Amino acid sequence: MANPAFADIGACVFDAYGTLFDVHSAVGRSGGALGDKAGPVSALWRQKQLEYTWLRSLMGAYVDFWQVTGAGLDYALAANGVEDAELRRRLMDLYLNLDAYPDVADALDRLRAGGKKTAILSNGAPNMLRAAVETAGLGGRLDAVLSVDELGTFKPDPRVYQLAVDRLGVAAERICFVSTNGWDAAGAAYFGFKVAWLNRFGQQPERLPGAPAAVIETLAELPDLLGL
Ligand code: LAC
Repeated sequence: MANPAFADIGACVFDAYGTLFDVHSAVGRSGGALGDKAGPVSALWRQKQLEYTWLRSLMGAYVDFWQVTGAGLDYALAANGVEDAELRRRLMDLYLNLDAYPDVADALDRLRAGGKKTAILSNGAPNMLRAAVETAGLGGRLDAVLSVDELGTFKPDPRVYQLAVDRLGVAAERICFVSTNGWDAAGAAYFGFKVAWLNRFGQQPERLPGAPAAVIETLAELPDLLGL
């Protein structure tokens, strides 16, 4: 159903990991090598990867998301007692070719048919984003793929969200930002975007400043929200 908060949107900007791409598909496609540790390793990998982005931003110790992703994986494997260099290499390779969620391509097509610009704004390093977009066949469906890398900091630093405003030439209040990550949704709303929190996994709302203007469960709801 159309939501008046989204009546004058010029561009839809998407978070990448967890929103368009399934970060757990790397472990999922690793062939069962982790056995019953698969779930815990994948969850801790993601958790440490994100923690390291926040901490490195605060520490002024930026390295790109590829290195942060590797460090998160190393922590998760060690914490689960796994020592396997070949498996580590395979998991990192798989992270370059994550599955896109099945609702992504159609939603992007409908938004573009409705005259909206579409873009990714992600922590991902440019080479990671290029690989993921290509694997998922999303290249022709996006007007821009923006990485924090040129800024040397991570979300939710407001300079990251400003990058989308500058590059797309669309004012913050006319940008619909979509993220599954509740903390990213909060950061983007606090910055001034109109945020649709894609709550794919029924998570609790974050207790942070910055409230999403809408909550959706699948990207199929997004065009309707914008009145398309
Ligand atoms: C990203 C992380 C936050 O793509 O998922 O920016």
